[in-house]
Amino acid sequence: MRIDILTVVPELLESPFNHSILKRAQDKGLAEIKVHNLREYSTSKHNRVDDYAFGGCAGMVMQIEPIERAINMLKAERHYDEVIFTSPDGETFNQPMANALSMTENLIILCGHYKGIDYRIREHLITKEISIGDYVLTGGELAAAIISDAIVRLIPGAISDEQSALSDSFQDNLLAPPVYTRPADYNGWKVPDVLLSGNHKAIAEWEHEQSVKRTKQLRPDLLK
Ligand code: ADE
Repeated sequence: MRIDILTVVPELLESPFNHSILKRAQDKGLAEIKVHNLREYSTSKHNRVDDYAFGGCAGMVMQIEPIERAINMLKAERHYDEVIFTSPDGETFNQPMANALSMTENLIILCGHYKGIDYRIREHLITKEISIGDYVLTGGELAAAIISDAIVRLIPGAISDEQSALSDSFQDNLLAPPVYTRPADYNGWKVPDVLLSGNHKAIAEWEHEQSVKRTKQLRPDLLK
C-alpha cells in the first residue's frame, strides 16, 4: 500500500518512518510512505500556505490552493481510497479503523496546522477525519505518524510473526495477556508455571483467562 502525507513540517516525520518495522516494511516493498512539503505546492512569492482568518478569529488558517494542488497532483497519478484529515474533531482512531485502512491501496493523509484549514477543503476534498484522542496537538503530524504506524504493521509480512498482529491487544476487544522471557526465576520473581509446562492447550486457556481478567480490571468498557 501507499500513504502520501501532506504537511507544512515534513521534518517532523523524518524519524518515525526510517526505523524498525516501518522502515523494513518499506524496504520489503510492502508499504510506500511519501511525505510531501505543502510549501512546494504554493504559488505565492514566499511559498506561503496560510493566511488570516476571515471574521477576525485569532490565528492563521491553511489556504485551499496548495492543498488542492497537492491532492490533485497525487490523484492524477493513482486512485486514492481515502483522503484523511487529522483533526481533534474527527472520528476517534481505533483498531477496527486501522484494520480497515490497512486493507486499502492508497491513502492521502493531510496534517492540519496553525488555527486550522480552510473549511472548504474539509467539505470538498476530505473523505475522512480522524482524531487520535480527545486532546489537542500542535499539529496533525504526530497523529499521521501514529495512524500510519498502526496501519502498516498490519500488512501481512510487515511483522515477522503474523500471529503476533492478530493477538494484539484490541484485536478481539480484549487486552493482550502478559508475556515473559528468560530467566524463568529472577531473584524470586517467577514466571507462571503453566508457561513452562509445554502444554499448548493449557497455555492458550491461561492466556485467554488473563486477557479477560486484565480487560475486566483495566478496560471494562471494551467488554460492553
Ligand atoms: N491535530 C491536533 N490534535 C489532534 C488529535 N487529537 N488527533 C488528530 N489530529 C490532531
